[in-house]
This record gives sequence, C-alpha cells and structure tokens, in this order.
Amino acid sequence: MTIDLTGRVAIVTGAGGGLGRSHALALAARGAWVVVNDLHPESCESVVGEIVAAGGVALAWPCNVTDRAGVFAMVEGVMARWGRIDILVNNAGILRDRTFAKMDLDDFELVVNVHLMGSVNLTKAAWPHMCEQGYGRVIFTTSSSGLYGNFGQSNYGAAKMALVGLMQTLALEGRKFDIRVNCLAPSAATRMTEGLYSEDDLKGLSTDLVSPGVVALASENAPTRTILLAGAGAFEQAHVTMTQGVFIGDRPDAADQIEANWSKIGDGAEALVPDSGSAQYGHEVARSLAYPA
Ligand SMILES: NC(=O)c1ccc[n+]([C@@H]2O[C@H](COP(=O)([O-])OP(=O)(O)OC[C@H]3O[C@@H](n4cnc5c(N)ncnc54)[C@H](O)[C@@H]3O)[C@@H](O)[C@H]2O)c1
Repeated sequence: MTIDLTGRVAIVTGAGGGLGRSHALALAARGAWVVVNDLHPESCESVVGEIVAAGGVALAWPCNVTDRAGVFAMVEGVMARWGRIDILVNNAGILRDRTFAKMDLDDFELVVNVHLMGSVNLTKAAWPHMCEQGYGRVIFTTSSSGLYGNFGQSNYGAAKMALVGLMQTLALEGRKFDIRVNCLAPSAATRMTEGLYSEDDLKGLSTDLVSPGVVALASENAPTRTILLAGAGAFEQAHVTMTQGVFIGDRPDAADQIEANWSKIGDGAEALVPDSGSAQYGHEVARSLAYPA
C-alpha cells in the first residue's frame, strides 16, 4: 500500500535543517503541501527551494514556536491560503545541557518552552481546524532522553517526556474527530547530536532514514497513541506500561511489605498498556475487591 498525501497540508517546525528538513522533503515527496517553519527566513527558503526543485509545493513561514501570537498567525495564514491543515510535525528543538546541579533554571525553562510550549502553541492553534474538518495527524518529537534519561539532560528529558503525556490525552480527546496523535523518538546525525554520538555511529544515522516514520504517522492509516522510535533504518515502539503488581491492603506493615515485594511489584511479565489513566484505579479497586480486608 503506497502512502499518498496528495491534498494534505502539513506544517513542520524547525524544518530549516536537520530532521525537520528531511521530514518536510519526505512529506512533500508524497504529495503534501508543506509549510516550512524555522527561526530564520533563509533556512526556510532554502528548504522550500529544495522541495520546489523536486516538483513539490512548499511555503516558508519563519517564526519562533515559543511566540504564541506568531504561531497562531502562521496557522491562520496557512488556513487563509490553503484552507486546511492536516499534519503537524512538532519538531523544533534546542539543547542546553548541564548536570542538574549546575543547571541554570532559565535554561531549564527555555528548553521546556521550546519543546513543550512550542508544540502546545502550534497544536492548540491548529486543533479547532482539525476538529472542524474531522481529520488531523499530530506528531510530537520526543526523545530517548525523556523516555529513558540521559546524563546532563534533565531539562530536555523533562520537556520530551511531557510531550508523551500531551500525546496520551490529545489522542483520547482527538479520537472522535479522527485526529491521531503520536510521538516520534528519532536518532540522527544533526547539528544537535554533533559531539554527542561517536563519529562512527553518526555515519549510519542519516536523517533520511527517520523521515519514513513521520510519513507513516502522517498517513490516513496512522495509529494513535504510538511512540515510534526510529534511527539508522530501524524502527521500534516504546510503551508506557503498568505491571500486575501486588495487593497489600490496609495493614500497619504496608511499607515493609512494599519493600519486601519490589521485584513482584515491578514484574513486567503480564504488564498492560492502559487505555487511559483510569485503568490504574480500576485495576487497584478490582484488586482490593478480590482481596477484601
Ligand atoms: N538528532 C537526534 O538524534 C534527536 C534525538 C532525539 C530527539 N531529537 C529531536 O528531533 C528534533 C529535531 O532535532 P535535530 O536533531 O534535527 O536538531 P537540529 O538542531 O538540526 O534542528 C532543530 C531545528 O529547530 C530549529 N529551532 C530551534 N528552536 C526553534 C524555535 N524556537 N522555533 C522554530 N524553530 C526552532 C532550529 O533552527 C533547527 O533548524 C528536536 O525536537 C530534537 O529534540 C533529535
């Protein structure tokens, strides 16, 4: 089955270079009209030039994703020009790495603002249009640093995991409008990863090998609430799971029982991927009813 994005309008943030550029080119190659957003007009124009040279349709729209009014103006401008917005690729990002002990809180806030609030701004601006048209594909760019941690990236990891939380709820709220919301955790050689990965590893980590993941998450048949991991042509999925755990109940030594049972509490053998947050208390109440005091 060939993915065809003809007639779809996509906005890709941070698309003036790195992964965003590859995503924009890949979406345009499948027929989508692509808005190329980044901080600087020249980088947007350069990617638009590449898309147009390859026979695609693209529009440069420089603005800072943390500038709420600017992002809303971009969305309204795209609606005025192209009449719909089908695909959002929230990709813009920065790093301000330091250990938490040495972290300046202004840098913490800046990173959260760009990754989390930048994604919130664009998604909030486009959401009513997607609801009205009964169609939307929203992609947030998370990271292994958020999912699993990375030394020196407390700010970045917190922001990236916040996007997973945002996805979990927007996927539920978007369902009745056929808005599907997913996360991508890429690995690629870009300006961002210069010096972070070894030279040898970077050779296999072309951004072009990640972008097919974005095309699949942008397609009509996209899943929803998926965390897709992608790098070097390999694709995996991460799940936020809940173990079966143990029932301890109301007893004076409950804390000691927890301490004695960490391995059972953490046993992933029959772990679930809950449909929503209420699955946790549902499971807990069911366990308490199964073992009455
Ligand atoms: N490269 C990797 O291995 C990797 C791993 C995990 C996650 N990511 C994520 O992928 C995304 C793309 O990163 P990349 O590796 O291509 O890095 P990159 O630095 O090459 O690209 C990021 C782009 O975002 C733009 N940008 C930064 N702040 C912006 C803002 N406020 N408004 C608009 N544009 C802004 C930059 O100008 C740049 O063009 C980021 O969200 C990053 O956190 C990358």
